[in-house]
Amino acid sequence: AIERTLSIIKPDAVAKNVIGQIYSRFEGAGLKIVAARMTQLSQAEAEGFYAVHAARPFFKDLVNFMISGPVMIQVLEGENAIAAHRDLMGATDPKKAEKGTIRADFADSIDANAVHGSDAAETAAVEIAYYFPALNVYSR
Ligand code: CMP
Repeated sequence: AIERTLSIIKPDAVAKNVIGQIYSRFEGAGLKIVAARMTQLSQAEAEGFYAVHAARPFFKDLVNFMISGPVMIQVLEGENAIAAHRDLMGATDPKKAEKGTIRADFADSIDANAVHGSDAAETAAVEIAYYFPALNVYSR
């Protein structure tokens, strides 16, 4: 089925100047960018976005990292977009990410891991709505 997923190019990958290389991977896999916005997240925005992780020991470091520089946020649309995007990203920990994945190629650590992607249809809907009002998503 045609799905949408939320993608974030994190501060480490923006600083490495690889937004275009990562976009090319999305496009090469048939994923269409239907919304996009560069922004520097506030602490409140980052905490709200990652609220499901609030009790985890890595939460503070995660939030501090996500507000350390600008991020590029986009909505990707395509056949099985959620799983297709996760395949492109590779494992959360770049040391465990398969060769040729975005995280294997561009990430430095489990915190500075280059990209975020929604993990399921329900979270994708919530995450897309968190950053993009429906009228700013340009489908087909
Ligand atoms: P992301 O997909 O953005 O979702 C939560 C982030 O927390 C994750 O990528 C990692 O960058 C970060 N993180 C740090 N430590 C861990 C951990 N032990 N397990 C999962 N995520 C972690």
